Amino acid sequence: MVLGFFLGRRKSIKDICWKFMDLLLSKRVLLIVTGGVAAYKSPEIVRKLRSAGAEVRVAMTSAAREFVTELTFQAVSGKEVYTSLFLGEADSGMGHIELARWSDAIVVAPASADFISQLVAGRAGDLASTICLATSSKILIAPAMNQQMWKSPATQENIRNLKDRGFLFHGPLSGDQACGEVGPGRMAEPDSFAGVVAEMFKTNYLSGLKILITAGPTHEPIDPVRYIANRSSGLMGYSIAAAALEMNANVTLVSGPTNLPPPSGAKVIQVSTAQEMYEATLKEMDMGQDIFIGAAAVADYTPEKPSKHKIKKRENRLSMAMVANPDILLAVSKLANRPFVVGFAAETDNLEENALAKLNKKGLDMIAANLVGKSDRGFSSEDNELIVLSGQEKNHIRKSPKPKVARSLLQLIAEKHSRCHT
Ligand code: C5P
Repeated sequence: MVLGFFLGRRKSIKDICWKFMDLLLSKRVLLIVTGGVAAYKSPEIVRKLRSAGAEVRVAMTSAAREFVTELTFQAVSGKEVYTSLFLGEADSGMGHIELARWSDAIVVAPASADFISQLVAGRAGDLASTICLATSSKILIAPAMNQQMWKSPATQENIRNLKDRGFLFHGPLSGDQACGEVGPGRMAEPDSFAGVVAEMFKTNYLSGLKILITAGPTHEPIDPVRYIANRSSGLMGYSIAAAALEMNANVTLVSGPTNLPPPSGAKVIQVSTAQEMYEATLKEMDMGQDIFIGAAAVADYTPEKPSKHKIKKRENRLSMAMVANPDILLAVSKLANRPFVVGFAAETDNLEENALAKLNKKGLDMIAANLVGKSDRGFSSEDNELIVLSGQEKNHIRKSPKPKVARSLLQLIAEKHSRCHT
């Protein structure tokens, strides 16, 4: 049951300015700047990542601050710059653990020979090395050093070691060096970073699978200008679609009215009412889908007979007969050739109990439960927190930005789906 009905005026979808969603849009990238003359190019990396849509924060080592000032990075990132293991937490509440969690990806540019060796040793003596140890996000290293230092057996062994552990590398380039020598060790050019960082988000977890996602609210017409809707922004469903594309899935998004740009690469079907969402979804199901995720906040009821003309204000009371909408999730779950079915449970209380009941009642493979009614997560919020139930398994996806939550949820779905189909 979708709570929190409100009355709104009908807005044409054509009025909304649709843009293509960039792979870096809404991604949170932490740039770590370590000590090296190439640090003078790093503010340009921040600018390029931001203009590709990413939100960028910067952490600097004390050696980096010998080459470029904090102020420069503060100006180009528009954010506070983090330099100390202890100060950041006190000043902004963004300590090393928060920064490690906040980042969808970490870029170390320039990465000095010394910092690379700290990563190999797993040191946590300053803010930058501690973040790298505390994060579960991918880390891209852009080395920059004298060509002889780069070629040294110690550095080369360190690089092999980090590659084996899953660290990614960009550069170095060969050419003239600041020290007057010529050879490998120049930091990759700032222009090249946006493309390389965007690639970091791609995986093959869902390669070859067809996924259909419903997203957003539905608008149930009362008369030609009014409708019943709910507080769903659609961000959770759109984030799931974007994350599925990153995981190389073939994505269809059936969306109710939202203000969000559709993820490029997905087949997007715009609908307005629950009935339209139901029909579009079942039609797509006929073409075969491997996974269905019902993230839409579908209205349970719709006015039985919407007025053909704008209802005039006459009496003090107005009543309206409502009829139940079709349950899309239940209908998909009952299909003979059903896909792996995932539902959402937005609850204001007894979260797990209600979600479990819904999982069983609708015959789902998995349910993602979130508390609504709190302003800092769930409906119309940028963050979410989920309890994911499937069979006897229970997983907790801690409160984070919705794109990050979407990726964690899809990883669980990919794992469970592959176990069910092997
Ligand atoms: O029963 P309830 O509305 O709480 O269930 C929520 C889940 O069911 C969500 O996954 C939602 O997308 C789906 N749903 C649906 N069709 C409806 C109502 C809910 O697909 N008519």
